[in-house]
Amino acid sequence: MRGATGRQIGLVLPILFAVAFPSTLVEAQAMGEELFRSTCAACHTTNTDRLVGPGLEGVEDRRDREWLLSVIMEPDRLIAEGDTIANRLLAEYLVPMPNLGTTRAQAESVLDFITDASGALSVNTTVLSDAPITEDQVFFGMALFQGNTRLVGGGPTCNGCHEVINDAVIGGGILARELTTVFSRLGAPGVRAIIANPPFPIMQQAYRDKPITEEEVDALVAFLERADAEQGLHRPRAYGIKLFTAGLVGSMILLVLYSVIWSGRKRASVNQDIFSRQVRST
Ligand code: HEC
Ligand code: HEC
Repeated sequence: MRGATGRQIGLVLPILFAVAFPSTLVEAQAMGEELFRSTCAACHTTNTDRLVGPGLEGVEDRRDREWLLSVIMEPDRLIAEGDTIANRLLAEYLVPMPNLGTTRAQAESVLDFITDASGALSVNTTVLSDAPITEDQVFFGMALFQGNTRLVGGGPTCNGCHEVINDAVIGGGILARELTTVFSRLGAPGVRAIIANPPFPIMQQAYRDKPITEEEVDALVAFLERADAEQGLHRPRAYGIKLFTAGLVGSMILLVLYSVIWSGRKRASVNQDIFSRQVRST
């Protein structure tokens, strides 16, 4: 009896709640969609296309809802605890899903959005062009990366937080990951999605209201692709022999200059003249 009433109340309450406050439901849906577009879409689609992570169409059919909520809130904990599915996914996708500090309410609403959006309205913010990259793009991307050219939106340079090992680039920041091999790791769609729509809180904050233009994203992706392809050719900053040679040549030039300037100097001691005169006069 008690159990049945409990269940009835459990069923009736949310319905009453929804009737009394329909706007909260709508808000939750909007929150889920907003969160998906701003954060998850960099790495996931709501269809079956793989991006950085798996396509999420039908994910609720293949997994337990509690497990999905955990992976959305604390993917790092699942992996650390040795969860079989999470570790299998990691082995397949190579990058771990980051812990984005998602709350339970956010996780619930984003999961509902994914379920609704599956198939029908598919969110895939990544537009891939198959146009080959040009040298101009690579150079433009490099200039943007290290701040020789400012981003149109006024966002900070990538170099401030990231480093890429490339002879032509000044050493970068170490706040965030080094990006030399990011292209091999995430592929073009992943890199593009992350730059166009950063899912990481620090980077997201840095580019809030300072969007990176389509053309800039293309150039940065082109530069990162090139840096990755050429990584074997570029050494981590070693000025060694060049600096030594420059120093040696410089000091030789100075020595020659000094000997020219001082060619009229006295060669023996002053006393020598007096001494010679004395010797002659005796
Ligand atoms: C930086 C990329 C990235 C972001 C951002 C990201 N994910 Fe993931 N996600 C992954 C990767 C990679 C995996 C698979 C490997 C793993 O689980 O660590 C994954 C796995 C998942 C899974 C399990 C899929 C399955 O087949 O079981 C779900 C569900 C998921 N993510 C939902 C989300 C949601 C919701 C968001 C936004 C709040 C989000 N992810 C943001 C990269 C990301
Ligand atoms: C304010 C600091 C900051 C700036 C500026 C910044 N990023 Fe990031 N970026 C991060 C953080 C933090 C991460 C999360 C991963 C990590 O901890 O390195 C990240 C991750 C990435 C990743 C994914 C790395 C991976 O291996 O998963 C790429 C690609 C990337 N950033 C590209 C860029 C590009 C291109 C720019 C310049 C337009 C840029 N970032 C500017 C902080 C920054």
